[in-house]
Amino acid sequence: MGTTDATGCMRNGEAEGPDGFAELRAREFGYLDEGGHTYLDHTGAGLPPRSLVMGSARRITGGLFGNPHSESPASRASGHLLAEARRAVLRHFNADPDEYAVIFTSNATGALRLVGEAYPFTPGSRLVMSLDNHNSVNGLREYARARGAATVYVPGLRLDEKRLFAALSAPGDRAATGGLFAYPAQSNFTGVQHSLDWIAAAQAQGYDVLLDAAAFAPTNVLDLSRHHPDFTAVSWYKVFGHPTGVGSLIARRTALARLRRPWFSGGTVYAVSAQAQWHVLAADEAAFEDGTVNFLSLPDVTAGLAWIDGVGMDRVHAHVAALTGRLLSGLRALRHSDGSPLVRVYGADGADAGRTDADRGGTVALNVLGADGRIVDERVVTRDSAAHGISLRAGCFCNPGAGEEAFDLPLTRLRTAADTQVGSLDAYLELLELPSAGAVRVSLGVSSQPGDVETFLAFVAGTYRDRVPTAAGLAARESC
Ligand SMILES: Cc1ncc(COP(=O)(O)O)c(C=O)c1O
Repeated sequence: MGTTDATGCMRNGEAEGPDGFAELRAREFGYLDEGGHTYLDHTGAGLPPRSLVMGSARRITGGLFGNPHSESPASRASGHLLAEARRAVLRHFNADPDEYAVIFTSNATGALRLVGEAYPFTPGSRLVMSLDNHNSVNGLREYARARGAATVYVPGLRLDEKRLFAALSAPGDRAATGGLFAYPAQSNFTGVQHSLDWIAAAQAQGYDVLLDAAAFAPTNVLDLSRHHPDFTAVSWYKVFGHPTGVGSLIARRTALARLRRPWFSGGTVYAVSAQAQWHVLAADEAAFEDGTVNFLSLPDVTAGLAWIDGVGMDRVHAHVAALTGRLLSGLRALRHSDGSPLVRVYGADGADAGRTDADRGGTVALNVLGADGRIVDERVVTRDSAAHGISLRAGCFCNPGAGEEAFDLPLTRLRTAADTQVGSLDAYLELLELPSAGAVRVSLGVSSQPGDVETFLAFVAGTYRDRVPTAAGLAARESC
């Protein structure tokens, strides 16, 4: 057994024993099996370990914590824990405090937005993005466009060197003078892990690099002494489940100094005059934390990082990789009686990864195929899996670019759809000639067990083998 620390959280030795993760599941995530749940949406959210929630309640009810913006004892107590949380984040990513600053946000989206709204885009610069990006990155293009910068997508479900360099350096309609390159370390759609070597490669071309680590951080080591993105965004609830509502922007101090905040607010200024209308922004991370930070929850980040680091990120990675391998080989083996496949997996299904399943995380996007070879409507799979107590995700997962690639949608058809006024999502899909609004996503994490994978495989085989399910009776889609 591991030992319990002052916050009530388990430390090193968490997952020891012949099957440490089974013991961890029983101890920390017992509510899964007690409730008969199969949870397969770790890319949506990690699950809260019981000890973290209990430790949090003990801390909050055992001390006095006030708004950190003053010098009272209550305020100092919060300020002290806030500073500790910043140090814990830097330690977790092996980041040098002289090189990096930690800004607390409400989630990864908040971190990404901070960069977008303050990045010094100019008509001579460009925003380069992988097509495989979450909408919280895609949305940055509106800031870039508003300031006249070119916006360029790098195609492909995997970033490859040739296409990336073409996008970074293509003369296009204006001379490229660098700018911002934004991509995910791991796709929230396909689970593909894009090489971290692109960070230094893009920087060598004069770009700042924004790394979206929201889907990568929960099961992978990110070493910021080895790779040096200018900006990194994470959501902590995806890593250790509790608390929700806290994320971070980990920014190189030199890159942070290049940002220009479009406003000021309480907490971000050293001095301000109402009548003379001047202000002096704080010189450090405080300039980017608007208003009062979530001071009761931020210390939970320290506890959460101690918890996940106590389990060991390398071990979490190996555990999830093994389960993902089992899931992928099980999916490949699923067949209708005539030998035709029961599922289609998108990206990194082995076909484009030399069947090694290398460079991918624990997120698998797929569609179920009926006995007629056609895609089973994702709403059917949502309905049927829910009836089996399975929590998964279906749709485009806020990643339209990966969806467009996966479904092989030509740009001309997408442009026509954009120009046509359609009244509903279903009408839009019809126009695009899409058989489904998206894929089914199964994602694994620290609390997953082999039984979860087996349950899903048995569900697909038992429900869809040799069948042609219809979408009859399903409600219209409201969003992708
Ligand atoms: C790759 C990626 N980026 C960004 C986000 C946005 O995270 P949040 O909704 O916590 O801001 C997500 C959420 O799933 C994600 O998977």
